[in-house]
Amino acid sequence: MNQNGQMIAIADTAISGEMVSFTPLRMENIYRHFEWNNDPELNRLDNEMPYKEESFGEFKKRFERMVTHPSSNTVDFEIHSNDGTLIGVAYVADISEHNRHCTAGITIGDRAYWGRNYGRDAMNLLLDYCFEELGMHRVATETFEYNTAWKNLVEWAGFKREGVEQEYLFRDGVFWDKEIYGLLEGDYRASRGLD
Ligand SMILES: CC(C)(COP(=O)(O)OP(=O)(O)OC[C@H]1O[C@@H](n2cnc3c(N)ncnc32)[C@H](O)[C@@H]1OP(=O)(O)O)[C@@H](O)C(=O)NCCC(=O)NCCS
Repeated sequence: MNQNGQMIAIADTAISGEMVSFTPLRMENIYRHFEWNNDPELNRLDNEMPYKEESFGEFKKRFERMVTHPSSNTVDFEIHSNDGTLIGVAYVADISEHNRHCTAGITIGDRAYWGRNYGRDAMNLLLDYCFEELGMHRVATETFEYNTAWKNLVEWAGFKREGVEQEYLFRDGVFWDKEIYGLLEGDYRASRGLD
């Protein structure tokens, strides 16, 4: 339900921004998702657990479940560029209808699309979805100390740095901080000139 008591439409149709559109995860794209799932560099940037190769069989079971039985508090999207290419994934997780908060993340898996504003457009669309469709009051995200691109994008989108979990992450023989960021509905609406 959103704040108006309407049922949330869980990503069963495409939604579009200026440069990207979001669709639900599609079984026919499983090979692309598998490639990104088994990419050590992406894993380092978007996953707090160390890279561990997953067999196609294991991944298929997990992906099939995500497509056919998505969790009620998570929404996963494919990100398609406006030239029709599947370029990445976006998600909303830990959705609490009562507290109207969630967490969010984006991975542009196709490196050819990095640094070309696709992340920015995907972020705008994801935030519109969280605040306008899901009726969230607060969206949170986490950044790893070494992931400058994500941190910059999150700050560009208006998230405020709320705190740090010191030396949370052990990578490459070093402990790194994890930072917590939050964006409130009021700040989102003001930034869009919606009030
Ligand atoms: C982080 C990510 C989503 C950014 O997407 P993108 O399409 O490359 O970013 P954009 O071109 O839209 O850039 C938007 C802003 O992000 C920041 N940014 C993007 N790439 C950057 C880089 N290599 N270094 C520093 N800042 C960067 C900048 O602030 C940039 O604005 P600017 O160009 O005016 O400086 C993308 O690099 C990615 O998917 N990385 C791998 C997975 C990941 O880290 N996900 C985040 C955790 S869930």
